[in-house]
Amino acid sequence: MSNELPDWGLWTEEKLEALGSYLEQFTTASKSAKNKVYLDLFAGSAVNQARDDKSRTFDGSAVKALKTIPEFTHLRFFELKEKARSLRQELGEMFPNDDRFEVFEGDCNANIGTVLNDLKQLRLQTSPIFAFIDPRSLHFTWETLSTLADYKEPNNKGKLYKVELLILFADPDFQRLYGKDRQYPDHRASSVTATQAFGNEDWKVIAEARSRDDISVEESRYYLVELFRHQLENILKYKTTMALPFKSDAVTKKYTLVFATDHHAGKDIMKWVLGNAAEALFDDRINTQLQHEMNKRLSKGAPSLFDSPESIEDEDIRRWMSQFTVQTKRMKKDELIVSPAKMPDWFWEVKKRMDNRQDD
Ligand SMILES: C[S@@+](CC[C@H](N)C(=O)[O-])C[C@H]1O[C@@H](n2cnc3c(N)ncnc32)[C@H](O)[C@@H]1O
Repeated sequence: MSNELPDWGLWTEEKLEALGSYLEQFTTASKSAKNKVYLDLFAGSAVNQARDDKSRTFDGSAVKALKTIPEFTHLRFFELKEKARSLRQELGEMFPNDDRFEVFEGDCNANIGTVLNDLKQLRLQTSPIFAFIDPRSLHFTWETLSTLADYKEPNNKGKLYKVELLILFADPDFQRLYGKDRQYPDHRASSVTATQAFGNEDWKVIAEARSRDDISVEESRYYLVELFRHQLENILKYKTTMALPFKSDAVTKKYTLVFATDHHAGKDIMKWVLGNAAEALFDDRINTQLQHEMNKRLSKGAPSLFDSPESIEDEDIRRWMSQFTVQTKRMKKDELIVSPAKMPDWFWEVKKRMDNRQDD
C-alpha cells in the first residue's frame, strides 16, 4: 500500500460518511434489482488520512462503495494514470478475488462513454446506477453529466430513472476567476474549465454581476450553485436536485455537494442523509471554532463544546461560550437546499443582454 496518504479535513470525512450512508440505503432500496452499479469518476485513494490526527485513517469513496451491504454488483473507478495504478493495487490487496470492480486509467471525461458502452453489453442500462463525481476542482465536463443523464433505458415496468448523481461542485473556485477576487493566488479553475463544467457561458452573468459589485461573494457562490441545479433540472431533466454547502469553519466554504435524482425514494433518503450531514458538519464547525477561540483564551488545555458548562470554572468564558453557541446555532438554518432551483430576474435580464451582444 502506498505510504503517501492524502490528508483531508473533517468536512471530507463527513462527505464520505454521507456517501456511505446513502449507498447503503440505495442498494437496500434497489434490493429487488439483480444488478446495481456504482461509478466513481474521481476515485482517489483507497485510504485517506485525517488532517487533524495523522494516525487516524478513513476509507476513500471506492472502499466505501466496495464495502456497501447489500452489495453493488458492478463498480467502475476512474483515476488519473499513476494514482489509478496505486488504487488498483491497493484495492487488489484489500479485496482479493473480488471481481466486481475495475479501475480505469486516465481522464474520466474521455473514458466514461466507453465504460458505459461496455456496461451496455452486460445489459445494465436498466439497472439502478449511482455516480459519485468528486473532483478537487472543476474537472468534470457538462458533456460527462449529460452522457450519464441520457444513459439509462426504461426498466421492465416501463419506468425510467436516470443515473443518480452526487457531485462535488467547487463553487469557491469560480471566485478566483472574476473581478477583485482574481487576486487569489491559486488558479485551479480557469474560464475554460468553468465553461466546460456548465456546458455554456451563462456562469459569466454571475461573474459580471460580482465584478460590478452588484452581488457579494457569498451571493455569487449561491447563484452559481442555483444555476448548476437549474441546468440539471431544466436541461438534463432531473426531477429533484438538492445542495448542501460544506464549510470548514463558520465562514469558509469549501464546496457544495449537489445531488440529482429522478426517484422519489432517492429524494427522501438523500434529504435525510444530507440533513444529518448538515448537523454533523455544524457540530464539527462549532467545535473547531470553539477550540480555536478557547485556545486563544486559555494558556493551556481548552474545554470542548461537549464539556458541561458547569464544569468550566471561569464565569467569563461560560458566558461567552453560551453566547457563542446561541449565535452559531442560528447559522444552521436553511443549509440544505431542496426546493426547485430558481434564478432571479436580474440574471435572465443580464443573460439576454449578453446573448444579444454575442449575436451582434
Ligand atoms: C478529491 S479526490 C477524490 C477523493 C475520493 N473520491 C474519495 O472520496 O476518497 C479527486 C481525485 O480525482 C483525480 N482526478 C483529477 N482529474 C481527473 C480526471 N480528469 N479523471 C479522473 N480522475 C481525476 C485526482 O487524481 C484525485 O485523486
